[in-house]
Amino acid sequence: MPVCQEKRPKILVIGSINMDMVARIDHIPLPGETVLGQGYSFAPGGKGANAAVAAARLGGCVAFAGCVGDDSYGQALRKTLTDEGVDDRLLRTAQDAPTGYAPILVQAGGENSIIVFPGANRSIRPEDVPAMFREPVDAVMMQLEIPEEIVLLASREAEARGIPVILDAGPACSFPLEEMRGLAIVSPNETETMALTGLPVDSEAEARAAARALRERSHGADVVLKMGARGAYLLTKDFEGMVPAFPVEAVDTTAAGDTFTAAMTVAYLRGEPLERAVRYGCAAGALATTRLGAQPSLPTAAEVEAFLRARE
Ligand code: RIB
Repeated sequence: MPVCQEKRPKILVIGSINMDMVARIDHIPLPGETVLGQGYSFAPGGKGANAAVAAARLGGCVAFAGCVGDDSYGQALRKTLTDEGVDDRLLRTAQDAPTGYAPILVQAGGENSIIVFPGANRSIRPEDVPAMFREPVDAVMMQLEIPEEIVLLASREAEARGIPVILDAGPACSFPLEEMRGLAIVSPNETETMALTGLPVDSEAEARAAARALRERSHGADVVLKMGARGAYLLTKDFEGMVPAFPVEAVDTTAAGDTFTAAMTVAYLRGEPLERAVRYGCAAGALATTRLGAQPSLPTAAEVEAFLRARE
């Protein structure tokens, strides 16, 4: 890890890293239709790297473990991490696959559609995992955009060392949650919850039922169910209920969930009760929707604090 002040939470993020191509369009073309777009740009992304950079901007001392290809995207993404102060020593350059790539279609109103070409994100090897745990950390954050085998193995390594695991359960997939070890917090959004539990999340009552199912499947982990513009449904042993979102004018929702989980984790590791940490996550996630792109939209700690102060 880079030299960190004692009180900065030390976080290991094991996850995906992609080059995003963000295309602004009026509507998604129908089969056979051609539409003119408003513009496009390239920006660093990937659920893992987004969470790592978000946590670093919010004051975490962050190491990122993952895989890029031996190409210009990989070099650019590594540089972005180091420019953000994220430790890249556990980011391997694989020779057998290109860097992950994600075309993102952003429609007027901020809704997005994402295609992920995982590329080198699939090249993280089980034998890479023990080395990720050589230096002590306060928490491990993971998502589901890397091989399932790696997520499960890393959770066992974390549990063996008493390190809490925070799982952002995106993207939506059927994942054997009950096989996770050391899980402190599981945080899916509505579609990810449906994929994990088969339960819909259209109302608070449905969120309650789904959160209870998730808690049971994850052997009692705290559940933070992300519900977009409505906020988050939180289930812990001390608290159950909604934490409301902050209304904002959304430009692009890309990486809002990644930002939310990273911000919640940083606040939680600083010792805030989870309910307050979720509120901090809601503020950071809301801010991320007000700007285009994944990592260009991630707020700093000063921005989140000013945003919260203005709403007290
Ligand atoms: O969560 C947003 C991210 O999903 C994008 O940055 C894209 O790369 C995909 O991983």
